[in-house]
This record gives sequence, C-alpha cells and structure tokens, in this order.
Amino acid sequence: MKLELENRRDSIRPLDFLVVLGFEGKKPGLPRGVKVAAHALSSFRGEFREVRTTDALQGPAKRVLLLGLGKPAALDLERVRRLAALSVQSAERARAAALGLWVDPEVESKVGGAESAGQALAEGALMGAYSFQECKSKPKKAHLARAVLFGGGAPFRRGGERGIVIGEANVFARGLQDLPANLMRPRDLVARARSLAMRNGRIRVRALDAAACQRLGMGAFLSVAKGSVEPPYLIHLVHRPRRKAQARIALVGKGLTFDAGGISLKPAAKMEEMKYDMSGGAAVLGVFHALPRLDLPFELHGVIAATENLPDGRANKPGDVVRAMNGTTIEVQNTDAEGRLVLADALVYSERKIRPDAIIDVATLTGAVITALGHELSGVLGSDPDLIDELVRAGKETGELLWPLPLLDAHKEHMKSKVADLKNINAGQGAGSSAAAAFLSHFVQKTSWAHLDIAGSAWGADERDYQGGPGGTGVGVRLLLGYLCAKA
Ligand code: BES
Ligand code: MN
Ligand code: ZN
Repeated sequence: MKLELENRRDSIRPLDFLVVLGFEGKKPGLPRGVKVAAHALSSFRGEFREVRTTDALQGPAKRVLLLGLGKPAALDLERVRRLAALSVQSAERARAAALGLWVDPEVESKVGGAESAGQALAEGALMGAYSFQECKSKPKKAHLARAVLFGGGAPFRRGGERGIVIGEANVFARGLQDLPANLMRPRDLVARARSLAMRNGRIRVRALDAAACQRLGMGAFLSVAKGSVEPPYLIHLVHRPRRKAQARIALVGKGLTFDAGGISLKPAAKMEEMKYDMSGGAAVLGVFHALPRLDLPFELHGVIAATENLPDGRANKPGDVVRAMNGTTIEVQNTDAEGRLVLADALVYSERKIRPDAIIDVATLTGAVITALGHELSGVLGSDPDLIDELVRAGKETGELLWPLPLLDAHKEHMKSKVADLKNINAGQGAGSSAAAAFLSHFVQKTSWAHLDIAGSAWGADERDYQGGPGGTGVGVRLLLGYLCAKA
C-alpha cells in the first residue's frame, strides 16, 4: 500500500472509499461535495471505533465510511493511530483499491496539531496494513493499493512523512520477528543489516564472527553459541549524521534467533514463540531502517548479539564457568538465562569500543516481566534516572509504554556466586526482571545505561488495531525513534 499526503483544501480525486471521522454526539463534517443518505448520518453516534459504511450519493467517492472518534476529551495520538489502522483494514475488507481518509482541523487540534496528527495517522495506517504472508505458498495480495491522508497543509505533510518513515521501520522489524527460526538465523540478521548498509552510504556494518569474538575474549556470548551449529555474529552498525553529532548513542539488541533454553531445556508448550527472542535485535535494525531518512544529530551505533540457544554435546552445562570480555567470571547455573550472557559481552564491547554517551539495551530477557507487566508494557531499568525518564516520556508519546522496575544494590548482591564472580540466576529470590538487569549492571562501568525488557511487549499484545494478536509488534522501534527525535 502506497501512502500519500494531501492538503484538505485540494479537491479529492476519485476514490472508491472515503473515511470521515466523527466525534461522539456531533454530526460528522463531510468534505465539500460529498453527500450520503440522511439516515446514515443520523444513526451514527460517533463512539470510539464505531463503523458505519454507506454509499455516497454525490461526490468523488463511491462509498463513505463514518468512523467514530469517541468523546473529544478522550482523543489522543494512540486513538488516532488505531483509527487510521481501522480505516485501512475496513477498506481492505471492502476490497477497495484506493482509500481517502479525511481529517478535520478539530481532530488535529485535539492531539497537539496537524504535525503530530499526520505522524500518528501515517504510522497507524502503515502498521494496520501489515500482514505476514511470507510463509504462505499463495500469499494473500492486498486489494488496497493506495491510501491518501487529507489534512492541514505543510505541518500535516511534515508529520505524515515522518510517520511514513517510522511506520515502515516498525513493519520492517515485525517482518524479521515473524519469520520462523529456520529462515531467520544469525546469518540472516547479518544479511538484513548488510542490506540496510547497501541501501544507504551513511550506514556501515561489521559482523564479528566467532573467531573475532574469541580474540576479544567474549567467552560469555560464545558459550551460548557453542550449543548450536549456526555460526554466531556480533553485528555492529554505525550511522553517521549529516551534521555534527551532538552525542554518540549505542543501542544493544538481544538477537537470539531461537531460544530452546539449552540443557536447561524449556517445556514444549509455546516453545515456538522463542523465534521472537531476537526482537531486541529486530528493534535495533528497525531504528537503522529509519535513520537515513530522519536527519538526527547523533552518531548512532547498533550492536546485536546474534546466536541460537540449543541443547547439544557442546552446549553450556549448568555449573559451567565462563569468562566475559571484561574478565568477570560467571557461573552458568541455568543455561536458559542466556540473554544476559550474550548481552554481558555486547555491553562490555559497546562501552569499551564505542565509548558512547549512553547505552540502551533492548531484550526479550525475562518471563518475569510478563508476570509483572503483561504484554502491554515494557519494563525499564538502568543506572541513569534521567535517561529512564526520557524513555518513559517517549513511551507515552508513542504508545509503546514503559514501566520502571527497581534495580537495587541488593539485587546486584544476589548475583554474586560462591564459585565464580557472578552467577547468572538468583535462584529462589524472585524479582526476576530486576535480577536480570542487576546481572547486566556488572557489565557497564560508567556509561549512562538503560535496559528495556520487552519479553511481554514484543508480541502477543492485545488487539490494538495497528498491531496485536499472535504476531510480533516491532516494539522498541517507534519508542527509540521517538526518544531520539525528542532529544534532537
Ligand atoms: N528468552 C527468555 C525470556 C522470555 C520468556 C521471553 C518468555 C519471552 C517469553 C529468556 O532467555 C529466558 O529464558 N529467561 C528465563 C530466565 C530464568 C531461567 C532465570 C525466564 O525468564 O524464565
Ligand atoms: Mn532463555
Ligand atoms: Zn532468551
């Protein structure tokens, strides 16, 4: 689906499907020249997500869909994203080829202006049109080829264009998440990273293979990778800005293309979901998908630790002791707590080799974060309360909500081992997400650092029109881009 942005004042070219938004308790304002039957208008109440399709009696569109905005006071960007998604989905169900979405100035002013409205609409429309078809022998082809958003002038266009970039980045990440592990292996993540660099000269990619990681002393990362025949890679992307960089920021992603648990094998039920254990890596690649078109004043680094975690004759055994890149020794009490092992080396690498001003890691790290926060929120922890605040704010703005979880000295103490320096679980002491973050904290010396636990939010979120259900959500992409755009 191609998305176009037009000024409300321009005349509407012929379309087969026109969506008009209407508030609760108010007659929806139809664009000039568009007429529908009076009973369609009078029976429409404008409740949030209410849908009323009717034939047009006059005007450039064949059919008109009245779509409910709900109460004016309850309208926010999240609702706008959802309504844009509902619009494209309704048009698709009606087998329309071209959709127009008509946005009133009142809608724009209720959500902070035409620019933010345009961005939210474009994001929602693109995200709502996503459907994973790659594994079907006969992929379903979309009827909807074109969607035109009509809004207020240059600000609307500016916001809409940013929304297109960000929406496409979200959908790109979801495409990586949804692929099964036999088609999305560590080497495939490398290939995707390389093709991003191929498309744009500002992005450089290096993929460190096992031998290179060995030379750097990444014993924790490699201990996980040993259990698989698939070669692991530490993927390092850099995006250099056109202008002078205000800051250097490292985004670190957990890239477990499959997590069977290793010798501490997971139960069979729902194990197929562990193809999503690369969602942190997908989020980082999604950000890089958008960067060349955003002109942000940052030197951005992406570091993805890509491997599989499988049971094998060479795999980590409970009790094994491994040595991370900073020399810290780790007793692997549970081979299923592998994410923190691979991130330990990725964090040390990022701090030492990149020397960034801030590190943000993104990882499907703990089942405990699902227990605590469910699928609608990500957990955030770290060493820098200001960075955490900025991320929480970006979460509210983008609808990718974050909730701070505690990270205490006591949690860090709990990760000390009798045999080695650290152990990778805090058996029996609870607070699983805090424990995982506490473990990670031992691998960031002095850099401002935040950790996003997206184990719940990365997939299976409730139906939100633009995402949800059984697939990946691309969480992290819009959040991190929102954080960067706000900081720029
Ligand atoms: N990838 C999992 C975390 C996870 C669980 C993500 C469920 C999505 C859904 C991670 O590697 C893991 O297995 N964590 C263990 C840690 C435990 C052994 C301390 C967990 O959360 O059960
Ligand atoms: Mn695991
Ligand atoms: Zn995992």
